[in-house]
Amino acid sequence: MTTPQYGSDAPRKLPLQELGQAKRDGRPLVMITAYDYPSGRIAERAGVDMVLVGDSAAMVVLGHNSTVPATMDEMIMLTAAVTRACRRPIVVADLPFMSYQVSDEDALRAAGRFLKEAAADAVKLEGAGPMLARIRALAGAGIPVVAHLGLTPQTATMQGGFRAQGKTAQAALRMLHDAHAAEAAGAIALVLEAVPAPVAERISSELEIPTIGIGAGAGCDGQVLVFHDLLGLGEGPLPRFVEQYASLGDLAVDAVARYADDVRARRFPQERHTYAIGADELERFQRLVEAGVPVSAEDEDGVL
Ligand code: KIV
Repeated sequence: MTTPQYGSDAPRKLPLQELGQAKRDGRPLVMITAYDYPSGRIAERAGVDMVLVGDSAAMVVLGHNSTVPATMDEMIMLTAAVTRACRRPIVVADLPFMSYQVSDEDALRAAGRFLKEAAADAVKLEGAGPMLARIRALAGAGIPVVAHLGLTPQTATMQGGFRAQGKTAQAALRMLHDAHAAEAAGAIALVLEAVPAPVAERISSELEIPTIGIGAGAGCDGQVLVFHDLLGLGEGPLPRFVEQYASLGDLAVDAVARYADDVRARRFPQERHTYAIGADELERFQRLVEAGVPVSAEDEDGVL
């Protein structure tokens, strides 16, 4: 067994089994997205249970208008930063669009990269149907996998846009069957996005694995929100299911604008932001400059 790099007082990684235990105990699970070291640290320090490195990164971090453009290399880099930050929470990495849709082999290779190169604890994929085979393949290879039903942003175009799913009896029934199938295939948890609350509640009550809702009501076993939405770091309207707990974007704009004003008005930097040089060294420096002495490759510091 390898020795952890950090001290014995470091928080212990939440065992995966804790997810099912929390559901059985009726303790709601808390998940939030994170995309880099600072957001991962905030999630860890706030004591969340699970951190999702969502491919929503394509939108909230990289400025695309959908999650489709997220690449494996981008997601690996972001996930590695988050896992460096998170010791206790379970870190779930989103498999990006087309990294798993084509074959089980693709899914295994992509998921393997997240575990080996980015130290993710689990991966997440969207959809049912042929994706159930992917869940089975990943679980069979010992890779913890989270399923995702309801609004599945990678295929939102097929769903008619970013809109709630499972709003007819037939669609709700299909979702319930898909949820059971995902559990039977070996998923460790199920994200339900933009699903009518009574439908999500029914699914949650029938499954043994925990459901994590986003726009799916209080009957889910846990909740997830996008970091930037929760903290008010984005611009424009938010989905109705978001509760914005802070307006950090406005605070940040105000801070940067005050910095800009201070620079332009020469109020920043001040003496306390600068480094000193001894009076004799300064005098010597001025004499050297005035005498036109060239910089020696072997000056006394050995550093040019
Ligand atoms: O990518 C993401 O952030 C997600 C959540 C919205 C569940 O999939």
